[in-house]
Amino acid sequence: MPTLHILNGPNLNLLGTREPGIYGASSLADIEQMCRSHAPGFNITFRQSNSEGQLVDWIQQASDSAGIILNAGAYTHTSVAIYDAIRAIDAPVIEVHLSNPHARETFRHHSYISLAARGVICGFGAKSYTLAIDAVAGLETA
Ligand code: DQA
Repeated sequence: MPTLHILNGPNLNLLGTREPGIYGASSLADIEQMCRSHAPGFNITFRQSNSEGQLVDWIQQASDSAGIILNAGAYTHTSVAIYDAIRAIDAPVIEVHLSNPHARETFRHHSYISLAARGVICGFGAKSYTLAIDAVAGLETA
C-alpha cells in the first residue's frame, strides 16, 4: 500500500479548544480518525509537532512516499527551512489549512509552503484534509 504522511505543525495539538470559531470543534484525534476512514487504500502516518526542525526531519524522511499533506500552522508564514525541505524531496506536498488564511490577518496572506507545494486546500475546516487525500489519490491514479 502507498504511504501517505499527514504532518501537522504548531498549536494544532490544541484543536477542539483552540479558537473553535476559526478552527472548528474537531480535535486533532478526530481529524486523524476522519482521515484514516477516508483513505483505506493508504498506509497513513499522522503526526504533529510544535518544532520546526522536527517537521523538516519528517519531510526529509517522507521523500519516497506517495505524498505529504502538510498543515504547517504558523510556520507556513515564516519557514524558509520547511520551504527548502519541500523543494529537496520527490514526494508531492499538498498544503492544507482549516481556515482560509487569505481572509484573515495580512501576515497570513503569504505562504512559503505554497511556493513549493503541488497544491493548496484551505478554508474547509477538517474537510480540507479529506479533500487533500482525494487530491493525492488522484495523483496516484493519474
Ligand atoms: C492554520 C492557519 C495558520 O495561519 C495558523 O497559524 C494555524 C492554523 C489553519 O489550519 O488554518 O496555526 O494553518
